Amino acid sequence: NLTANIAGLNFNHILLNAAGVMCQTSEELDRVLASEYTGSVVTKSSTPSLRPGNVSPRYYELSNGLGTINSMGLPNEGFDYYMDYVTKQQTDKPIFFSVAGLSKQDNLDMLHQLEQSDFDGLIELNLSCPNVPGKPQTAYDFETTHEILTEVFSFFTKPLGVKLPPYFDIVHFDQIAKILNQFPLAFVNAINSIGNGLVIDEATDTVVIKPKGGFGGVGGPLVKATALANVRALRQRLNPNIKMIGTGGVTTGRDVYEHILCGADLVEVGSQLAIEGVGVFERLENELITILTEKGYSSLDEVRGQLKII
Ligand code: DHB
Repeated sequence: NLTANIAGLNFNHILLNAAGVMCQTSEELDRVLASEYTGSVVTKSSTPSLRPGNVSPRYYELSNGLGTINSMGLPNEGFDYYMDYVTKQQTDKPIFFSVAGLSKQDNLDMLHQLEQSDFDGLIELNLSCPNVPGKPQTAYDFETTHEILTEVFSFFTKPLGVKLPPYFDIVHFDQIAKILNQFPLAFVNAINSIGNGLVIDEATDTVVIKPKGGFGGVGGPLVKATALANVRALRQRLNPNIKMIGTGGVTTGRDVYEHILCGADLVEVGSQLAIEGVGVFERLENELITILTEKGYSSLDEVRGQLKII
């Protein structure tokens, strides 16, 4: 059986959506939650008030299947909408409530409301949105990240984790892990999209998305190696009581298996969910089970973090 536990909450499946994909409206959230093959759902990162997001086209799938690029710009229904949604759910799946304030104060305000609410799931603090013009990816600024987490944990007691951008340097893995290990985080989720890539249309020599002159977050198979490196490097450095969510480049059961080998407890699907729809969860779980059976494993505990080096 494919289960996981974060902060004492049980997940009966290990797959879920990646924040931003199929999770903006209650109808979309319902579809992910209703799948027999998801362990949970994560809500679209919310801001205190509704945002329409950037101009369209703002999402594009490469025709060669290598990945996606997006600059959505944090379109969301606003914090109250998601609070209303999560507190109405009867599900036994522990829901992730994602928040992505555009300022430290916005994040603290939303977290104060979550702390005071009846919400009994997990909170994902998104420190890695690359798509709001003029706003940097917070977790590339280690000092600010330390400052935000210090203020958050001065009052916050519910299970909280952070969504990180990809890092590309061993010293940066050391530095971010040293900061994260100072806090009682329930989990760390790696990675968000690789920020500010550029895709060009061959027929017209133009960019494929309109916001920011075509720059946007890259996802899908293009980011898998970076995602696995981040899950592995963080798992090797974080306190064992901080669980890992692996996100990035998952299109097959083999990809899910590799995230688990690197140390992931749960695995999220972004681009491929956008492309394939909720049926992706059944396919991926079946492909994963086939791999585990062929290799003679009866539990994920025998696999998790067991990547071999040579
Ligand atoms: C958006 C993209 C992200 O990668 C993220 O973490 C939050 C928001 C967006 O463009 O909407």
